[in-house]
Amino acid sequence: MISIQAQNGISFNSASKVFRIDGGDVSYVFGINNLDELQPIYWGARLGTRDGFPQPHTNRGHASFDLPTGTTPQEFAGWGAGLYMEPALKITFPDGDRDLVLHYVSQRIEGDVLAIRLKDIERDVFVDLRYEMDPATGILGRSANIENRTSAPLVIEQAAAATWTLPRGTNYTLDSLTGRWSGEDQLQQEAMHQGARILESRRGSTGHQNDPWFAIERAHTNDQDAGDVWFGALAWSGSWRITVEQDMLNQVRVTGGYNPFDFGYKLNPGESLATPVFYGGYSSSGIGGASRLLHRFELTRILPQRPDPRPRPVIYNSWEATEFNVTESGQEELAEKAASIGVERFIVDDGWFGQRKDDHAGLGDWYVNQEKFPHGLKPLIDKVHSLGMDFGLWVEPEMVNPDSDLYRKHPDWVLNFAGRPRTEGRNQLVLNLARPDVRAYVFGFLDKLLTENDIAFLKWDYNRNWSEPGWPAVAPDEQKQVYVKYVDNLYGILRELREKHPKVEIESCSGGGGRVDLGILRYTDEVWPSDNTNPFDRLTIQDGFTYAYTPGVMMAWVTESPSGPNHASLSTEYRFLSSMQGGLGVGANLNHWQPDDFAAARHLIEEYKQIRETVQQGSLYRLISPRNGSEHSVTESVSVDRSQAAVFAFLHTSQFGYPFPLLYLRGLDPKAEYRLHWITAKPGGNLPEVATGAYWMNAGLSVNLDGDYQATAFRLDRVQAP
Ligand code: DGJ
Repeated sequence: MISIQAQNGISFNSASKVFRIDGGDVSYVFGINNLDELQPIYWGARLGTRDGFPQPHTNRGHASFDLPTGTTPQEFAGWGAGLYMEPALKITFPDGDRDLVLHYVSQRIEGDVLAIRLKDIERDVFVDLRYEMDPATGILGRSANIENRTSAPLVIEQAAAATWTLPRGTNYTLDSLTGRWSGEDQLQQEAMHQGARILESRRGSTGHQNDPWFAIERAHTNDQDAGDVWFGALAWSGSWRITVEQDMLNQVRVTGGYNPFDFGYKLNPGESLATPVFYGGYSSSGIGGASRLLHRFELTRILPQRPDPRPRPVIYNSWEATEFNVTESGQEELAEKAASIGVERFIVDDGWFGQRKDDHAGLGDWYVNQEKFPHGLKPLIDKVHSLGMDFGLWVEPEMVNPDSDLYRKHPDWVLNFAGRPRTEGRNQLVLNLARPDVRAYVFGFLDKLLTENDIAFLKWDYNRNWSEPGWPAVAPDEQKQVYVKYVDNLYGILRELREKHPKVEIESCSGGGGRVDLGILRYTDEVWPSDNTNPFDRLTIQDGFTYAYTPGVMMAWVTESPSGPNHASLSTEYRFLSSMQGGLGVGANLNHWQPDDFAAARHLIEEYKQIRETVQQGSLYRLISPRNGSEHSVTESVSVDRSQAAVFAFLHTSQFGYPFPLLYLRGLDPKAEYRLHWITAKPGGNLPEVATGAYWMNAGLSVNLDGDYQATAFRLDRVQAP
């Protein structure tokens, strides 16, 4: 008898043994095959309600060299039998066996969650797979919980959250983000071939070098908003790996989770290990559509203030102005100037605590430096409040300088291998947050800081990666748990702090964008994408950033000019327009500014406040990318209700003096009328004052930019019906 269970977009056909999950414009289908393996069937555009699939069947092998185990994709394959592709789970048992073959046992539907239980064919190793689809975006969250119900400990050597399988094909382009300190989020696009491509961090944290994000385009075109795209983002802030494979039969699989490098999680009888969540989505509207879905998902399902995150306030941060030389009077002077241009949050960066004169000392000693702030932080905080701003403070809780009271007292609190050298980075060592005493210390000082001071915001920094990741205080075979327990405790501290201090907002910073991922974004309201604040370089970094993350978390400061590697002198207007594409901040030394700069800043901040919700929470269209030596870049953001659009246009160089390309806007209501408003002081083009969405999207708008490093911006406001 056929029974179809259907609930919240999830259905199971007991005759064909097929599961189906629908959400947004997406259907995701898999089933229990003839061997009781869980086999993927379909992931793509939403299917008709009555469309069904026959029970899946294992693929044939390919000669004697590729057995059906490898040619048949699985939702979550154990390493066993003859599997040569990336496994989702690899285990060593105490008797030396390493064979793990996972078969379907049962399923449950709980609310929006479909849970499938798998078990090894002999041993009592259970895996619970979790599928939860966002009904609005069709983005599916997948994770696994591995449980040891045998009577002996085992070692998990590899644990992924999920394997995603794409339709068989040969015309795929892989998009990924690579980078380094001060040069994050460079979009890479490469044709896929047979073989594996690894995206990863072995650094203990997310890293600047790769983002835990991928997108795979079928039949890549230059139209950002056309074509099939599958994409995913791993919610984990520790060492991670995503393996993208095209196998010998041109099947594409993407497996992601804990990085198996140096992994070895001992699981005692009765214990379990949960993996991070790997989110995956599909868009038929190209890579542009894919990132808009991901942005919407982050805003409504990931960020701590979901589904309605507060817009980012305009901030001032004194780091680039003063570096470590912070004093009460110096900060007050800057605060007065910041308030005068419309800044809403004043942030004191590094240097306020311990014996912190430079980066050689002080980390770990979280008391207010008496020489710099003789009366504590209160007078400055009061002053900032009296100027109508709230107050934020920099911390780097996970680090310690060897030159600190904390390290002198607790040299065993850092990651280390007993008796081996401890490699320093920026003169600091990493506290082992996996240790309960370190966790308690870190939570304790942060809680005290927030309880004793009226602080609205923490900038949580993290300025090096791991070395010698040992944990000598625990048994040798438990040391490698540090890769998981460190990050779990980091999340735990953030969660508890937020619960206890619900008004406090937090920024994730790691020497710029070294820790940005959907795991940390559950607990932080914004991120610092890069220490490179050169507004021209930032155009490319910001462009790359938005492939994976919403502009709603992307902070961008207006800093000194010239700055950055190209030393170009850029106008105040250019610098502001570059930063106004995310959460706007000012980081320049305001003591160097002239009256003209203050006037321009006041005007542009006022303008920014008119468009910030559109920019931060609207739909982003990348009209012209700054990448690949392009002379131009243009972004357009459209508010959720399509009542406003904000357009930023940049000209990098004008070699040969060609006119700026015509702009064709996207995402507007074609029938509605929109009124043009120039954000920049001087008009940037010959455009009508009022026209329909159809006009703005089809007529081809000309923008008058010429010269090097020029910029302009405008907004369109829907005209209210009388
Ligand atoms: C690195 C951050 O990215 C900077 O913005 C600044 O906070 C410094 N650390 C302070 O040490």
